[in-house]
Amino acid sequence: MSKINFVISNVPAELALAAQLIDNRDDNAHPLNHKDFYKSRAVILAKTVAGDIIGCAAIKAGEGIVGELGYLVVSRHYRRQGIAQQLTQKRIEVAQTLGISILYATIRDENVASKANLLKMGFQFWRDYLSIRGTGNTVGWYFLALTDDIDASKVMQSLVGDRIPVV
Ligand SMILES: CC(C)(COP(=O)(O)OP(=O)(O)OC[C@H]1O[C@@H](n2cnc3c(N)ncnc32)[C@H](O)[C@@H]1OP(=O)(O)O)[C@@H](O)C(=O)NCCC(=O)NCCS
Repeated sequence: MSKINFVISNVPAELALAAQLIDNRDDNAHPLNHKDFYKSRAVILAKTVAGDIIGCAAIKAGEGIVGELGYLVVSRHYRRQGIAQQLTQKRIEVAQTLGISILYATIRDENVASKANLLKMGFQFWRDYLSIRGTGNTVGWYFLALTDDIDASKVMQSLVGDRIPVV
């Protein structure tokens, strides 16, 4: 793989390019809410030496000890080179510096690549739930405890609320 740099960015012009990359995602995700994206706690970009943004991932907007991962995308020409893995590794490191004790993510059941990405990084599967968007999609919930004192089950149960489990 040619050299790729992984950087935290809050540069508006770079975030706009990252948003474009997310907008063009090919995983049938619902449209990006740009306002929410810009409020992310941290956006990590994968950049070529020439400065092109070829990947993006974030810890979504929020505060406190629970952090949600999202906005993961790698440009088609750069896939299967471990870039998503490195973006997630970097998000875990950044989460620790932000005082986050538990990370979680929700993934559509059919998104094999994204599920593998999390499991390879040590995330655990929590449960599948029906999408609250009423689409009938199954959404898997995943988590990674970053500190020993966190009661992951309690946090996950409170996050999923009254969603309907898929059994
Ligand atoms: C998901 C995505 C970010 C993965 O990016 P990537 O840089 O290609 O992923 P990596 O190279 O780090 O892959 C790590 C591992 O994930 C798994 N994986 C990645 N892509 C896969 C695929 N298409 N099918 C099956 N497993 C896959 C493999 O286990 C892979 O390890 P390997 O290449 O050694 O077998 C990329 O496919 C993408 O941008 N998809 C569209 C957007 C999207 O789905 N975003 C996530 C929404 S939740």
